[in-house]
Amino acid sequence: MALLERGAFAAPDSAQRNGTLGLTMMNEISSPAINAAEVQKVITHRLLIGDNQSVVPYLIQSSETFDVAYLDPPYNGYVMKNGAYVPEIDDELWLSRLRNLIQKVHTLLSDDGLLFLSINDREAAYCRVICDEVFGKQNFMAQIVRRRTNRPLHAHVFSREHEYILTFAKNAERIHASWDRPPVSTWWDFAGTDEDAAQEIRAQFGNLVFDHAKPSALIGNCIAICQKKDAKVLDVYAGSGTTAQAVETLNRADSGTRSFTLIQRKECYHGCDISEICERRIQKIISGSFLAQKCIIYQAHVPNDINTQ
Ligand SMILES: C[S@@+](CC[C@H](N)C(=O)[O-])C[C@H]1O[C@@H](n2cnc3c(N)ncnc32)[C@H](O)[C@@H]1O
Repeated sequence: MALLERGAFAAPDSAQRNGTLGLTMMNEISSPAINAAEVQKVITHRLLIGDNQSVVPYLIQSSETFDVAYLDPPYNGYVMKNGAYVPEIDDELWLSRLRNLIQKVHTLLSDDGLLFLSINDREAAYCRVICDEVFGKQNFMAQIVRRRTNRPLHAHVFSREHEYILTFAKNAERIHASWDRPPVSTWWDFAGTDEDAAQEIRAQFGNLVFDHAKPSALIGNCIAICQKKDAKVLDVYAGSGTTAQAVETLNRADSGTRSFTLIQRKECYHGCDISEICERRIQKIISGSFLAQKCIIYQAHVPNDINTQ
């Protein structure tokens, strides 16, 4: 099934029966360059607005595959309750949701596809075990250490200035066999900090509309490890849409035709809907681009996917 030719995604069977699920095309954003006479190829991106657990099955059903999946889930923060530090979401539940999603993303990766999972010090070991199980230990590529801030953090004993990017291949042997560059260091000291990410958001919006973003250089580094200049990139926790910016930057630099598919649910954050922030960021990127490209926005109609907590 060709998703874009249909204009809307076909609902999985169970959804068709209860009639409540679906993804409808809502909007299309085009770059000015798309009208140029010499344009031969238009890069087509997508933003799918909805809960990733509900939306990813549509992608699986369409049998499409991705070369790179970047996952930046909300880390399960710890909060003080009744005098003890406890996870915001029950740990088992948080991990089982993530496992479920990683399994689906694994299905969506091409034979030489790569997964990059951003994760903090506390959860890294559990996520590594999940990925080992889903991908197979032999397909572990690296646990990249990333400097996330240059400022010492206020903390009791340790100031955690780093976090990780777990990297797994669908088939590590294929990646090793096709690799034709110097090895990539697993210590990323200069791939942008969270302060750089905030600066990127301020530069585009005038203020800090979202403060959980990753720097685009970091995501760009991940995508570039896939050596395909036409890589299809999936981000199922899109947030402010930094992955869109990373794809744009890489394409500009090497005349690539990489495309992104982003999933972001409607979620209220300081009075703004994050999916709207994402859409506006894509709008800004595409409208300022000299590349011939467009982004189609789809909306899921799942009754309970609107989280306004
Ligand atoms: C850590 S942020 C990602 C930030 C992103 N990398 C960026 O640079 O802006 C995680 C995002 O995932 C979204 N999210 C969490 N659970 C989700 C779900 N089940 N489906 C879709 N989006 C979800 C949150 O709303 C949040 O925007």
